[in-house]
Amino acid sequence: MTRILHLTDLHFGFHREALEAPLLERIAALQPDLVAVGGDLTHRGLPAQLARARTFLDRIEAPLICLPGNHDVPLWNLLARTFWPFRAYRKAFGPSLTPRAHAGDVRVMAINSADPYSWQRGKIRAGEVGRVIAHVDPLGTNIAVLHHPLQQLPRVDKALARQATRALRRMEAAGVNIVLSGHLHRWAVDDLLATGHAPRVLQIQTGTALCARITDIQNEFALLEIEGTELRLERHMAPMGGKGFDAPQIAGYSRASGVWRRV
Ligand SMILES: [Fe+2]
Ligand SMILES: [Fe+2]
Repeated sequence: MTRILHLTDLHFGFHREALEAPLLERIAALQPDLVAVGGDLTHRGLPAQLARARTFLDRIEAPLICLPGNHDVPLWNLLARTFWPFRAYRKAFGPSLTPRAHAGDVRVMAINSADPYSWQRGKIRAGEVGRVIAHVDPLGTNIAVLHHPLQQLPRVDKALARQATRALRRMEAAGVNIVLSGHLHRWAVDDLLATGHAPRVLQIQTGTALCARITDIQNEFALLEIEGTELRLERHMAPMGGKGFDAPQIAGYSRASGVWRRV
């Protein structure tokens, strides 16, 4: 059994400072084999915010990979956004914007969907999808992690990332089993599965782990326990105004039949 923890949208610089310690405690207690951090590590991509995010993530003992979100690209400094959009991010988190890691027979592969020319919307680059596909292990579980969702429910008022639909189709055909995303600060799993849009890919859209925006209702993260074709998904939530994380909501999923079903 392999435990992958998905954290996203930390928004350092506009985050719940009082939740930092409870979040670290909960992560440590869960003892994940790997932590995947899905972008928007900061609110404005400022070096001081990136440094704070880095200090926080360094306190997680598990192996960790992270990737940038749109908020990690400078918004107001047009010169920086145009010519060196990821320089500050790389300085804090290292050169790779698309890291890969594995734990047991689970592969976790990052895609960088942040795009300085389409700041809010983002873009899925075909070359990065191709590199993920090239590293799919047909005998294991393959997870792609990126900031922007590849499918959105009708209730979402933001534009879907450019090339998202094509990327989802390609990855489904190539054997990617799970896609982890963030950006919307709204949880969605079962509603996406119910659309039947990509039944061989379980899309897990996780809400924000630390953002202080009151309309986000709660902070949250996901823990995936993977055993062969079976997945136990834990959703850990900390309501806004509360002191910490409640007991998780738990759901089971299976892809034993070739497509994902809730069990
Ligand atoms: Fe965000
Ligand atoms: Fe975002």
